[in-house]
Amino acid sequence: MHWKILQLLKNRSPAYLSGEEAAGLLAVSRTAVWKNIKLLQKKGYRIESSTRRGYRLLESPDLLYPAEISEHLATSLIAAAPSLIKHHAQVGSTNTILKELAEDGAPEGTVALAEEQKQGKGRLGRSWASPFAKGLWLSILLRPAVAPQEAQNLTLLSATATAKAIAKTAPPLQPGIKWPNDLLLKGRKCCGILTELKAEADLLHYIIIGVGINVNADKKDFPEELRESATSLSLESGGVVPRVKLCSAVLQELDDSYREFLLHGPEPALEEWKRWNITLGKRVTLKTMSGIFAGTAVDLEKNGALVIEDDFGHQQSFLAGEVSLIPERKITN
Ligand code: BTN
Repeated sequence: MHWKILQLLKNRSPAYLSGEEAAGLLAVSRTAVWKNIKLLQKKGYRIESSTRRGYRLLESPDLLYPAEISEHLATSLIAAAPSLIKHHAQVGSTNTILKELAEDGAPEGTVALAEEQKQGKGRLGRSWASPFAKGLWLSILLRPAVAPQEAQNLTLLSATATAKAIAKTAPPLQPGIKWPNDLLLKGRKCCGILTELKAEADLLHYIIIGVGINVNADKKDFPEELRESATSLSLESGGVVPRVKLCSAVLQELDDSYREFLLHGPEPALEEWKRWNITLGKRVTLKTMSGIFAGTAVDLEKNGALVIEDDFGHQQSFLAGEVSLIPERKITN
């Protein structure tokens, strides 16, 4: 009911909506309208009330309420209905709660969002700082009927979709993708993606794509050891970035790319990834479980593996690991 009243207020804004008119339109009492206005105010909406004129919406909070996000979406799979968006003020990890929902049979396209994560998970067993309303902490459940080996391509696809969403929402920012899925701005990380999956030998049961974007975080919001290497969209753009708009853009871009992947396979997504990447052609080191490899990143294989060529011209491809970009040496005379 309160979302319906909010919609009426938005449609009427900046003018007033009388309690009597709202009650008539929704076939409820004026007291019910008043109670729901109070609820909206508690949720952070600034609504002015005047005994003579009624109610007027002054400002909406930039919180990730499903009704707000759905308003900007035209998706057909991901978050295709507001009921597929599970919003939480605080959770341990959105990936963990979405995994529980997936095990209970949640449909493809279910999205878990949190304003704050207390146990945000990063890649390689690390933690991910996720302070209240400072970023986007979201996870998306997909159930493509593909082999588990395709998972890497979905990870790359998610990185590209997220980079595009950031570029659209917060111009002139243009994130670059460090293989496989870190987004960097001026060499500092603003976004990470953690994909987790359940599969058997030939079949992927489900994949959870966990996206963490530092949106309006300040330096002090990052753990001390990351203050040099991490950044946020607001730090780089110099202004507050609207999270609801960004979240909708991420879901929309993901939906578009994922549908293309289902229709045409991974090639279009791999080509797009190449356009946004900042790894190919660079000198890199790659830290893997079996050691550290150094060389030049020369190609991306069809399965999303990174091909590295060492100084003797030997090429090796890797599906996992952590890339460090080696800064180019300046040649001076
Ligand atoms: C990385 O280490 O680069 C990956 C970070 C992924 C963080 C996101 S935030 C939403 C989702 N839930 C988590 O616990 N982690 C991912």
